[in-house]
Amino acid sequence: MAEIFRFGVSLDKDLLARFDRLIESKNYSNRSEAFRDLIRHELVEREWQEGKEVAGAITIIYDHHHRDILNKITDMQHDFQGIIISTQHVHLDHDNCLEIIAVKGSPKQVKKLADTLKSIKGVKHGTLSMSTTGRQIK
Ligand code: NI
Repeated sequence: MAEIFRFGVSLDKDLLARFDRLIESKNYSNRSEAFRDLIRHELVEREWQEGKEVAGAITIIYDHHHRDILNKITDMQHDFQGIIISTQHVHLDHDNCLEIIAVKGSPKQVKKLADTLKSIKGVKHGTLSMSTTGRQIK
């Protein structure tokens, strides 16, 4: 386990009160854990900005009856197979499909794949969950 350091933080009283209300609403058990998560969040953002290898998930919702959409989505995934770890397809109802594409690679490539999938006609909604490989984060 990594060595743990303690340090004090000086904060305006009102700001601390707002922070405490925020972390309570998010169910953090203490300030330290909430503070660690804020730091990790910033570090993950930095990984994406600096072009380090990142991981994440692209989620798309689409109507599988839409003309040629399955071919387009499959073609796109073959074009980006170097960064796709796995794909999960869920039939939500008679018309709608949910696809979760787990990715690992350069931020530029991952964003390009997410943008390309979202831009396909018939894709109703798409999100990119920008996360980390976990190697840079404790
Ligand atoms: Ni389906």
